[in-house]
Amino acid sequence: MKTNNKILVTSALPYANGPIHLGHLVEYIQTDIWVRFNKTIGNDVVYICADDAHGTPIMLKAKEQGISPEELIEKTKNNHEADFKKFFINFDHYSSTNSKKNEELCKKIFIKLKESGHISQKIISQFYDDKENIFLPDRYIKGICPKCKAEDQYGDSCESCGATYSPTELINPVSILSNTKPMTKDTNHYFFNLKSFKDYLIKWTKEHDLQATIRNKLNEWLNDNLNDWDITRDAPYFGFKIPNEEDKYFYVWMDAPIGYIAAFEEYSEKNNRFEGIWNNEDKGQIYHFIGKDIAYFHSLFWPSILNGAGYRTPNGIFCHGFLTVDGKKMSKSRGTFIKASDYLNYLDPEFLRYYFASRLNDSIEDIDLNFDDLTKKINSDLVGKLINLASRCSAFLEKNSKLMLSKELEDKEKFLSFLNNIEEIKNLYYQRKYSSAINKIMLMTDTANQYINEKKPWSLDDLDKVQEISTQGLNYFRTLVILLSPVMPDLLEKVENMLNEENLVWNDSLSPILNKKIKKFTTLKNRIQKEDVEKLKEGLMKNNNNKQDMKVPNMSNEIEYDDFAKVNLRVGEIVSAENIEGADKLLKLTVNLGTLGDKEIFAGIKKFYNSEDLIGLKTLVVENLKPKKMKFGTSSGMVLAADSDGDIIVIEANNKIKNGSKVK
Ligand code: 2FM
Ligand code: ZN
Repeated sequence: MKTNNKILVTSALPYANGPIHLGHLVEYIQTDIWVRFNKTIGNDVVYICADDAHGTPIMLKAKEQGISPEELIEKTKNNHEADFKKFFINFDHYSSTNSKKNEELCKKIFIKLKESGHISQKIISQFYDDKENIFLPDRYIKGICPKCKAEDQYGDSCESCGATYSPTELINPVSILSNTKPMTKDTNHYFFNLKSFKDYLIKWTKEHDLQATIRNKLNEWLNDNLNDWDITRDAPYFGFKIPNEEDKYFYVWMDAPIGYIAAFEEYSEKNNRFEGIWNNEDKGQIYHFIGKDIAYFHSLFWPSILNGAGYRTPNGIFCHGFLTVDGKKMSKSRGTFIKASDYLNYLDPEFLRYYFASRLNDSIEDIDLNFDDLTKKINSDLVGKLINLASRCSAFLEKNSKLMLSKELEDKEKFLSFLNNIEEIKNLYYQRKYSSAINKIMLMTDTANQYINEKKPWSLDDLDKVQEISTQGLNYFRTLVILLSPVMPDLLEKVENMLNEENLVWNDSLSPILNKKIKKFTTLKNRIQKEDVEKLKEGLMKNNNNKQDMKVPNMSNEIEYDDFAKVNLRVGEIVSAENIEGADKLLKLTVNLGTLGDKEIFAGIKKFYNSEDLIGLKTLVVENLKPKKMKFGTSSGMVLAADSDGDIIVIEANNKIKNGSKVK
């Protein structure tokens, strides 16, 4: 371990357009354990994170919800923070990349990079959606894969054959926003000259703390041709404007990592801590925890940008794998996409922390969540062995010595040799080999239970001896709980309360408590009930497969006001209604919405109306319904019709009545 004990730690910044799910939690739990471990052994640690608030998906999601991006990111950040808290993720500061500080820093770094010759400009040709008036990010274009000809593939890569390509190579590209064929349009973009950092990066990857697999991958990328990096996005975009430009913004991946520094500075200025750490390596260490999918951004772009702008770089980047559930990628349709809030409805958050810890190590292998395995580990290891040790020993103490601990341990030598394992566990935590640390702690738990089983305090008449044995057993338990405390901080707090102690740290595990009164044992953790896991799984299937149920969990058919408020209703006049050849239910309507122009809408009302009877009818139209591609064309809205005892009636919009007479 390094001598300077100041450590700044970050986890990747979650996007502010969706809820925290168990896949995210692998990383936050992994990082939080490392932070708590470092804190408890006496290192001075600051743990920083923020919501990643910019980009096209966030802008469009806000539009879809009829709110501003600022409102969306605020709402999401509150939800994220609440979920993190419930899982005991203990950030020292949690910010947003959409902050004043981040904007200032982005501009400052950009200007510095530009002045140092690291930025160039190039005119590029990009897909543009003429209907929505927006340049299309790769993920908003779909088409046929140019390599394997699979249909419905994204603009950057093919899920079928794994090929990567540029969106302009797609066959029959379509904008997923409007279902129209995108055009290409020229635009002037700023690029970060990554190529010129090649030699620097070759040296950087050798000298910094990276996993071997990641280092190999980086070397592969470095041996290939590095491409300069497009850091510009055109309006409309939710992000920070590029200085001296009107309609150009920093790409979200430019401002997101700078958000690490901005969030840190907000914290540092308020708390006078770790000042200057981003400028001077002697001031402390910096580590980023991330998923393996974003290693490229963090290990190539990020060190180069920092170096180019005169900052120091992180000491290390720690990557983890993805979460699979029952051996497969999380999937909504399989009912294995589990949000933090879904899990919390049925299971204890510390059980997930314990389970993830028992599966995590320093590699980038994916980790699997298997509920049978989770139940087994919790019920037999944690509750059956560890918690049971405390409940047995405190029962003897309660019965025989009014919960007073003895003045001496029954077998001090044995206790000391038990403590010999602690140094190794400390190293395992430090190296992020949590699964090995947990194994070791569980072996120690077996040793402690074995001690009680061999001494058989229940069979002894010598009450002093019973007290000493139980005191030793309870001290084993206390040590084990301290060793587990980076993983289970809430359990530690409960045990502190029971033992009349507070703020226990790692080294307290080495000194037993004697000759003091403790509190009566109360349940510390309950076993997982099979029904709870089943209920969680059933809930997921319902949520994920049946949208109606998801929105109406009480089956009362009520909808939230916010849901209804999203619907934009307009009065429109049906100006044409046509039968469609080959369609027995649909009529093709053209509805005039006044200043909003005409909309072509397909309505399933052919059985109930003659097309000519509809012409001239004023009706209500859902104007903001996402266009839907149908066999006979694209329907761009909905004409409101209602069920009236089996008959379908198109809703007629009467003229407004004012002062008793109709107003035109
Ligand atoms: O991949 C992601 O989820 C990104 N939001 C991570 C950003 S981490 C950092 F660079 F800001
Ligand atoms: Zn393909």
